[in-house]
Amino acid sequence: MTRPRTSIHGEWSSRWAFVLAAAGSAVGLGNIWKFPYITGENGGGAFVLVYLVCIAVIGIPIMMAEVLIGRRGRQSPINTMTSLSEEAGKSRRWSLLGWSGVVAGFMILSYYSVIAGWALAYVFRSGIGMFHGADADQVAGIFSELLASPERLLAWHTIFMVMTMVVVARGVRSGLEKAVRFLMPVLFILLIVMVGYAMNTAAFGKGVAFLFSPDFGKLSRDGVLIAMGHAFFTLSLGMGAIMIYGSYMPERASIAKTTFMIAGADTLVALMAGLAIFPIVFANNLEPSAGPGLIFVTLPLAFGQMPGGSFFGTLFFILVVFAAWTSSISLVEPAVTWMVENHGMRRLTACVWSGIAIWALGIGSVLSFNVWSDYTLFGKTFFDLMDYLTSNIMLPLGGLFIAIFAAWVMKDADVRDELAIVNKLGYRLWRVLVRYVTPLGVIIVFLNAIGVLHAG
Ligand code: PFF
Repeated sequence: MTRPRTSIHGEWSSRWAFVLAAAGSAVGLGNIWKFPYITGENGGGAFVLVYLVCIAVIGIPIMMAEVLIGRRGRQSPINTMTSLSEEAGKSRRWSLLGWSGVVAGFMILSYYSVIAGWALAYVFRSGIGMFHGADADQVAGIFSELLASPERLLAWHTIFMVMTMVVVARGVRSGLEKAVRFLMPVLFILLIVMVGYAMNTAAFGKGVAFLFSPDFGKLSRDGVLIAMGHAFFTLSLGMGAIMIYGSYMPERASIAKTTFMIAGADTLVALMAGLAIFPIVFANNLEPSAGPGLIFVTLPLAFGQMPGGSFFGTLFFILVVFAAWTSSISLVEPAVTWMVENHGMRRLTACVWSGIAIWALGIGSVLSFNVWSDYTLFGKTFFDLMDYLTSNIMLPLGGLFIAIFAAWVMKDADVRDELAIVNKLGYRLWRVLVRYVTPLGVIIVFLNAIGVLHAG
């Protein structure tokens, strides 16, 4: 298999378009929905600190590795892994890394779409003024009523899946690129408004302290694994999403600079979401550890009390939907490109088939919030299992192998050529990080979580 110089699927119009698209993939439910709730469940500051360290020493170096592999291969992750391993004279089995990414993408999107469906439902609830003047109990009631209805959850999940597949079917420039260009900046502005609101609540200081003063006594071993898993999830790493976006990247754009921008924007949005949410949690005596419903039972309280709240609430949930949308498209892109390349399918046909498969898998998550809520494995519902397996196991493993591939399998000259870091020290630092620090870091966190490091 030879390595094409350009992707048959298209190319971003500029490096900015790449940054926006990759930031669109990174910034999503992970930042606004998941980060606050897992921070709340894992005790706050210490968890946030571990997450930030993982972004810096594991996430950023691996993102650079994933982008460089993608741009050099210029194909779907499965075929990219095959041709780059051939180029390096190594086993074609590395294509398995592409496969595990496709599977992880399907699993993630299946439940991601259900949660995005909650946000869709909230656009309308907020729009008709349902939260106006509501107290904490009423807001919680509205949320549990939604979860109790499999029909409604299924309907919203279906709508979101259709939305996702429509954009993916339109392809790189006219679909993906157009959507993110406009939406990302608006989301950012609205988050600033929300943080501004939270600053005026009496509990802002408490929220800040919860997020930023670490108490390691509150962080379990599993919590450390969850923090690392989230670094992968939030940056869209370890499953080929960033790899396929890298394959559409123009030749001359700098991988290091664009990576810093993407990771920086992603981290900023997560911290802002935390700063908007926790003060409201404490001001209303709510539980930070409320779980996946956290933003759905806190933010509506703020919208219910602020002037123009129905308007801001509607706008906010619209933006959450858009943030989820620009991420969800990247979760199927690796599979769709493979079907087009290897089976000669039209993009549209590939989208229909993968969309149906993911939608069907999502029914499991829909039911896990109601009819199947008592069916658990290792104490986890279907939704919990999908999330735990992908974020905390499959993505970090995928990232581990991506690091190993870039640092130990590919030829140093090829890697250097692709990264084109002018600064020698910068290149060396990156190399030490992907060669030793990231693989060891991931392995240590895994061993720690299963208790091996604490025997006896
Ligand atoms: N990064 C996205 C978020 O934070 O919501 C989720 C995600 C997208 C994870 C794409 C993995 C991925 F490949």
